[in-house]
Amino acid sequence: MTEWLSRSERRPLVAGNWKMNGLRKDLAEADKICAATAAGEAGEAEVVLCLPATLLMAAVASCEAAGVGLGGQHCHGAPNGPFTGDVSAEMLKDAGASYVILGHSERRAGHNEGNASVREKTRAAFRAGLTAIVCVGETRAEREAGDAMAIVGSQLTGSVPGEATPETLVIAYEPVWAIGTGLTPTLKDIAEMHRFIRERLEADLSGVRDRIRILYGGSVKPSNAAELMRVPNVDGALVGGASLTARDFMGIASVYRDLRVAS
Ligand code: 13P
Repeated sequence: MTEWLSRSERRPLVAGNWKMNGLRKDLAEADKICAATAAGEAGEAEVVLCLPATLLMAAVASCEAAGVGLGGQHCHGAPNGPFTGDVSAEMLKDAGASYVILGHSERRAGHNEGNASVREKTRAAFRAGLTAIVCVGETRAEREAGDAMAIVGSQLTGSVPGEATPETLVIAYEPVWAIGTGLTPTLKDIAEMHRFIRERLEADLSGVRDRIRILYGGSVKPSNAAELMRVPNVDGALVGGASLTARDFMGIASVYRDLRVAS
């Protein structure tokens, strides 16, 4: 029996974050991901594509038919109003999304999003009926200073609302220095951080810690996915660059088919 199958309360999740990439022509890759998922290539893992908001409605039909979830990459805290250029959680839901990424380091750094703002947006996701994928992770300087756990701990406590449940919340641990760099932490460091996150969730959200999924993100690719996905308390991946092509993304998701075959 493989590690993840023995934790039947946490279905693995492989989510692609396309970031600000993708025009309508690129939905051909999303269609291929849908076809491969429908054909069982991801085993029993859940597959989710967090596309640019402009592509969500065009992707709904093939994703729904294949059982692939759709997600947004950010939302405003309010349901509607005078916020030019913003997208609300309700709008994402209306466009066909069931997930939304919140607190990604590119938004924390590039749009000045602090923990309180991420928490407000996570509550907005809950209000709209979306599952929030809340991202946490330290910078290289913070890791080198020995502060990685303190930073991630304060991001968790500050960003996750107390009413979160395993159905409404997924955590993604994405060390900032591992995003788009080809670098990854050691498997030991990932195991320690994911265990720490699970313990912190128990402290903050008593009683649900064993069922909340914790993804690893940062330079996940087909060549390292198998070893990363086997780390205890790694319940899947949040994939950036390698989610843009069906070949690479399914090369990652198929780890779960292969684990199952091997079990
Ligand atoms: P990469 O997979 O490109 O490193 O990006 C990770 C990420 O930021 C996913 O949200």
